Amino acid sequence: MLLAKLDRQKILPVLVLESQEQALPLAECMLEFDFRVLEITLRTANALDIIHLLHERYPELTLGAGTVLCATQLKQAAQAGADFAVSPGATEALLMAGGQSEINFIPGVMTPSEVMRAREYGFRFQKFFPAGVAGGVAMLKAMSGPLSELNFCPTGGISLNNMRDYLQLGNVPVAGGTWLAPSNCIRQRDWEAIRQNLALLQQHLDE
Ligand code: 3PG
Repeated sequence: MLLAKLDRQKILPVLVLESQEQALPLAECMLEFDFRVLEITLRTANALDIIHLLHERYPELTLGAGTVLCATQLKQAAQAGADFAVSPGATEALLMAGGQSEINFIPGVMTPSEVMRAREYGFRFQKFFPAGVAGGVAMLKAMSGPLSELNFCPTGGISLNNMRDYLQLGNVPVAGGTWLAPSNCIRQRDWEAIRQNLALLQQHLDE
């Protein structure tokens, strides 16, 4: 279900939001361009409140909590109304908690051994992070042979210029990134710049 939604959307916007005043207009921008699956990183003090607000205000959104580093944050994300949670890594504790969580958990991996460990816990959809420096497209292509039944969301270094290279791989249904809504645009409330990024992305995806 989540994987199908992400596969349809192709790009998962990763958002670093500091306040509810930033979150609401940004959500409007995203919805305007039909981006309904969003990742809100738990890198700011208000991130959980923001997830809660967006969950209440926009039931049409599918919200992910990003940068989940421990089992407590996974629980908090679920309580705040997140539909899924994403981690840059995969500790033992998180893999265990992720398996028991009522929301989808996407562990972060970077090497074949990490992929296999997460697979042993039942996670067949994983975040490949940081994609750009962890071998990028070539690494994902190489893993598709021995680790064929797994899917990845590469994140870290994805942009409009290279997203196509990732998305054409058979094991990459979706890629994520902050480039659509960079922190400086959010801070300056430059919604127009973000709209332009979204319009450009839509154009590329439609081509
Ligand atoms: C993440 O949290 O997934 C990454 O920080 C996103 O990386 P990017 O900023 O290179 O898109």
